[in-house]
Amino acid sequence: MNKPVLEFNKVIFHYKNSEAPILDGIDLQIYENEFISIIGPSGSGKSTIFRLITGLEVPFKGSILLNGENVTNRLGAVGYMPQQDLLMPWRTVLDNAILPLEIKGIKKEIAQAKVRELLDDFGLQGQENALPGNLSGGMRQRVSFLRTILSGSNILLLDEPFSALDAITRLTMQEWLIEQWMKRKKTILFITHDVDEALFLSDRIFVLQQKPHTFIQEVKIPLGRPRTIRDVSKSEMVTLKEKLIDQLRSKVSK
Ligand SMILES: Nc1ncnc2c1ncn2[C@@H]1O[C@H](COP(=O)(O)OP(=O)(O)O)[C@@H](O)[C@H]1O
Ligand SMILES: [Mg+2]
Repeated sequence: MNKPVLEFNKVIFHYKNSEAPILDGIDLQIYENEFISIIGPSGSGKSTIFRLITGLEVPFKGSILLNGENVTNRLGAVGYMPQQDLLMPWRTVLDNAILPLEIKGIKKEIAQAKVRELLDDFGLQGQENALPGNLSGGMRQRVSFLRTILSGSNILLLDEPFSALDAITRLTMQEWLIEQWMKRKKTILFITHDVDEALFLSDRIFVLQQKPHTFIQEVKIPLGRPRTIRDVSKSEMVTLKEKLIDQLRSKVSK
């Protein structure tokens, strides 16, 4: 395979106010155009991995490489959609979406025109003047995702974007996300605690088990693309699902 776009080399990390390591010598390789899910119980360190990738937290030891290079300001180089959607309630859809362009110093009118071109694709046509408080959960997530895409990065980090959505909206959003991922040729890291979601979306799943993590268990999904939700009911996928649930459960019972 070609060179990883993102790589962890023997990363050791603990938060400053706690001696207990979360990552203890982790190696990871993520390749261009992959869709990777990270799954694990709450508190297992999923969001911490994203905070390390963005550079909001710094490894105690080891290195994190972006396109083979040790870039220090990675926050500007990856598109990060944190667990809370962080839409500004006083700004319209349009003005929330243009934020990353504004930060880059692009003129407001030009930024707005760019967002307008994308509204259709993001199912937000006619909503540009709406305030976040008046949008459905799915729409809010699409505004957040639009903003993340506008960061211009090829690597997107999505932290539990669909966890607050009802089952049907969630499925529609999953299908929509895959469509966008294929169309825009991005590399996506996606945090979830939903096994079905991870199985449906991913090329590989990283499974977080017992802390501290000395390695990260990987599961390769034996499905091609495009896939439909029915593919997840195939017998080999059901077996894989049971195996994954057992792995996650063994963490909780210890
Ligand atoms: N800023 C912080 N300072 C100290 N400990 C933290 C901080 N953020 C998270 N933690 C702890 O690190 C562990 C992993 O947290 P997190 O990465 O948020 O887990 P997850 O996203 O899998 O639910 C938890 O035990 C959590 O309490
Ligand atoms: Mg989290």
